[in-house]
Amino acid sequence: MSDTPKIEAVTPEVKELSNFQDLVSLCKRRGFIFPSSEIYGGIGSCWDYGPLGVELKLNIKESWWRAMTNRDDIEGLDASILMHPRTWEASGHVEGFVDPLVDCKTCKGRFRADKLEHANCGKKSSMRPGQYSECQLTEPRNFNLMFKTFMGPVEDSASVVYLRPETAQGIFVNFENVQQSSRQKIPFGIAQIGKAFRNEITPGNFIFRTREFEQMEMQYFVKPGTDMDSFEQWKQTRIDWHLSNGLRRSKLRFHQHGPTELDHYARAAFDVEYEFPIGWQEIEGIHNRSDFDLRRHQEFSGKKIEYFEEATKEKFVPFVIETSVGCDRALLATLCDAYRVEGERTVLKLHPKLAPYKVAVFPLMKKPELLEMTDKIYGGLKKHFRATYDESGTIGKRYRRQDEIGTPFCVTIDYDGLADNTVTIRERDGMTQERISADKLVGYINDKMSTWKSE
Ligand code: GAP
Repeated sequence: MSDTPKIEAVTPEVKELSNFQDLVSLCKRRGFIFPSSEIYGGIGSCWDYGPLGVELKLNIKESWWRAMTNRDDIEGLDASILMHPRTWEASGHVEGFVDPLVDCKTCKGRFRADKLEHANCGKKSSMRPGQYSECQLTEPRNFNLMFKTFMGPVEDSASVVYLRPETAQGIFVNFENVQQSSRQKIPFGIAQIGKAFRNEITPGNFIFRTREFEQMEMQYFVKPGTDMDSFEQWKQTRIDWHLSNGLRRSKLRFHQHGPTELDHYARAAFDVEYEFPIGWQEIEGIHNRSDFDLRRHQEFSGKKIEYFEEATKEKFVPFVIETSVGCDRALLATLCDAYRVEGERTVLKLHPKLAPYKVAVFPLMKKPELLEMTDKIYGGLKKHFRATYDESGTIGKRYRRQDEIGTPFCVTIDYDGLADNTVTIRERDGMTQERISADKLVGYINDKMSTWKSE
């Protein structure tokens, strides 16, 4: 009697993502990411996360937050976006957070003077800015990337405040508040997730470089002299986190900052890079920032920021090991890594813990007796997992819809199942199907999720 679909044809031809455009279109179509203010024509490099995007993003944040704060030596923080303007003088952003900018007098394009070899002329796209004879570039001038606004009703220089360009400074200025209230002993860290804003001259490549983005930063405060050991440990911990989210090892690498890339205060810096369709790019920075930040805030605020070590009776300004990952960039890497076209089907092979839905539930047909059992199973699964329901189209079409949004399991309820309380569960990656007892579904899905490995 059962016409539950049998094994689907597995095609050997597998294509990975080769350009962002295919991903942009999937994200728009399926509700992951939309251009911001689209009905007004959009606004440069701002994006909105739709129903599935917001779930994926939350799952990435949750994975980071748990990895950071499920340990005894890290506390959480949620500092405000607007901070005292002196913060940004102390941090060096007012003076030094600048990019050299050139304008094209003809096409009015704006380019980073140090990245001209990656940009295209607005008049003749096969040429670099300034190469086309009609186009003349201005001399480079420094452009500060911080967004300015005014606090209070008066728009004068005394009321200027900045939208934070990184979340880190909220952590530094709260070092003592957190240390004293939580009674942490060094070494310990403070973790924070929050929005940051940079008026990038050349944003682009979908959500890779935007003007508003989210950072997940952790500053680990250590005793001077122990900093390089801690730095090495954090490098390993952070690459392990990316692997635990399913990114393939072959697509990840470290890039060490050479002497010309290193910030003046940094003692060492490594980027975690991912191989995007546009090439290897930074997704996370791991920095040994020495005691620069705390010393600067001490100097600019006039308040002592020191740590007293009971055991040795020593006072010192801690060193900081920073791990800073862009949430949107981690999400982009996750989508790129998961994207496959396998013959007829497009599939997101997301780590099940990150997938917006863990399971989809289908009645084979819209018959009352099947719908009743389906409702019961769907309701039961929703207590354990984020689940979705679909009754329209053939089962094959319903599988394809779920493949494209990365749902790892589909459960179909058919007539055989009515008789013996069984269902067919189908896995996204291998497209294999198994008939199991409906009572075992939760355990089965949990088992498979915990042993999932990327291909
Ligand atoms: N507190 C250190 C700091 O902010 P960063 O290297 O400037 O370091 C850290 O930024 C991470 O933030 C980057 O690795 C990247 O993932 C993300 N990020 C930085 N600028 C971004 C932008 N314009 N759009 C999206 N993500 C960005």
